Amino acid sequence: MPDNPRGGATARPAARASAAALPRTMRAVSVAEPGGPGELVTRTIAVPARVGSEVLVRVVAAGVNPVDATTRSGDGVSPGAHSWPIVPGYDFSGVVAESPYAEFPLQPGDEVFGMTAFPRTTGSYAEYVSVPAMSVARKPRVLSHVEAAAVPLAALTAWGAVVDLGKAHEGQRMLIDAGAGGVGHLAVQFGAYFGADVTATASERNAPWLRSIGARRVLDCTADAFDELLTGFDVVIDCSGGDTGRRSLSVLRPGGHLVSLAPGSWPAIREDAEAAGVRVTDFWVTPDGGTLSVIARLIDSGDVQVTVDSVFALEDAPEAHRLLESGQVRGKIVLRISEY
Ligand SMILES: NC(=O)c1ccc[n+]([C@@H]2O[C@H](COP(=O)([O-])OP(=O)(O)OC[C@H]3O[C@@H](n4cnc5c(N)ncnc54)[C@H](OP(=O)(O)O)[C@@H]3O)[C@@H](O)[C@H]2O)c1
Repeated sequence: MPDNPRGGATARPAARASAAALPRTMRAVSVAEPGGPGELVTRTIAVPARVGSEVLVRVVAAGVNPVDATTRSGDGVSPGAHSWPIVPGYDFSGVVAESPYAEFPLQPGDEVFGMTAFPRTTGSYAEYVSVPAMSVARKPRVLSHVEAAAVPLAALTAWGAVVDLGKAHEGQRMLIDAGAGGVGHLAVQFGAYFGADVTATASERNAPWLRSIGARRVLDCTADAFDELLTGFDVVIDCSGGDTGRRSLSVLRPGGHLVSLAPGSWPAIREDAEAAGVRVTDFWVTPDGGTLSVIARLIDSGDVQVTVDSVFALEDAPEAHRLLESGQVRGKIVLRISEY
């Protein structure tokens, strides 16, 4: 049995691109304690050891998601899930460096994209990440790694909300809040692909783009009181929560369905939904390589496009988070981590 380059015995020989080529250490962004973007510091740390059915991936690019900022600042789900220091980042695109066994479908050199074990395990702001094999899929052929890194968490969220919970279908009236975001622009396209009549909220500058990717109507959320102008929706995908989510209840038809991407965002959500005569479902994204494979096919066929707003080097993660927190992003922010 070959030596494990990072110490510890492996029960079975793992398939490796070249064990000798795997380094012991890597560059990664780590956060020593909760705080602002300045806490994102590039350090040299140990390459994670692949265990069991995990796949070790050399990360070429990592997605930057709003939950990365709440995790960094110690908010959101992170207090229950993390001990510090942490390596942020929940999605990536890269190349398999080590796979569980010789006949495993994904082998060293294969190009994959996927998620870490959200929300407990973090780590894609790093040159290597070890993730459950069922959390990855083959990268869409038509996308670069930078583009593919923009997809997993946002697309699985959009798919879960629009397709699995919203059950998008022909003629259904669907409102997608914050349609210009990483989740929103994919949600608009999934809704339109399955035949729904999609309305999105967005600022005026994003309206032509959103119409070009499938929104029938775009409402300027900065200028218009959407809840006074809209009515009769079957489904609302609520990205914002809070006051926006609460006001969304009134645009649903009786028996309509609010899918909340901001679970628990206002205390009386269940009572308010009941009073309005509508259903409400909290949603959490789930890593899912099978669904990612379906999404990859829609991207390769040209039915779904991904928009990357900005690309930053790993060392510039603080700048990426400042832009993320400005709320001005169209599509996704990506960190380029290594060459491919
Ligand atoms: N529950 C889950 O599992 C889950 C998973 C992923 C994301 N989320 C949540 O879903 C939300 C969207 O995520 P994301 O990745 O799409 O975020 P994002 O990419 O950062 O969204 C940025 C977009 O939001 C729009 N926006 C900003 N303020 C708005 C407002 N008040 N009303 C409507 N749109 C507004 C902006 O477009 P305009 O300039 O056009 O307004 C901007 O393009 C976040 O709150 C995130 O935490 C939840």
